[in-house]
Amino acid sequence: MLDLFAEAEPWREPLAPGAVILRRLALEKAPQLAADIQAVARRAPLRQMVTPGGYTMSVAMTNCGPLGWTSDRRGYRYSAVDPLSGEPWPPFPASFTALCREAASAAGYGDFQPDACLINRYAPGAKLSLHQDKDEPDLRAPIVSVSLGLPALFQFGGLRRSDPLRRMLLEHGDVVVWGGDSRLFYHGIQPLKPGIHPLTGDCRYNLTFRQAGKKE
Ligand code: SIN
Ligand code: FE2
Repeated sequence: MLDLFAEAEPWREPLAPGAVILRRLALEKAPQLAADIQAVARRAPLRQMVTPGGYTMSVAMTNCGPLGWTSDRRGYRYSAVDPLSGEPWPPFPASFTALCREAASAAGYGDFQPDACLINRYAPGAKLSLHQDKDEPDLRAPIVSVSLGLPALFQFGGLRRSDPLRRMLLEHGDVVVWGGDSRLFYHGIQPLKPGIHPLTGDCRYNLTFRQAGKKE
């Protein structure tokens, strides 16, 4: 008999040219990923950055890997050191590297070599306004985005801010990969609804892997 309550195998949902949602791909690795987020955050604490316009972001952020994304009154940039400590960002945990490689090749980006991972923590109400990921010099490399914990409504549009948006729920273990023709598509996260998740408690984490420097 079909067991309707069995854990489903990962499945894929095409999103746009060059973009796909790999549903639940990170589910099995999630406990290790969550433990590794905590370890990174002990060395490079999650912090709410300030935008060049002087607005304090609702999402708390940190990074791991050779480069990390930061924002302050002077602008957005990638930096090899954490401006809070002056130290290099913590290295990629092995669990991050393995999952990112698996996701990138499943999405058709087998040669993706990330050198940056932005870690976002959303508390209830936190959001990320519609934006493009365009601070990376080599736009041939995709973005690999991993969702953990509470579900969030993701918006995915087109090349223009005014293009129609698709809205979909990203749940625990889902991985979105976008590159190629959709690499510069606008996207964002709507305000997080309160809840409790068995692994992450009252928040959502998102990991985004990027190639932010030049390829070796
Ligand atoms: C981002 O756009 O950098 C993060 C998206 C997300 O939290 O899913
Ligand atoms: Fe983004």
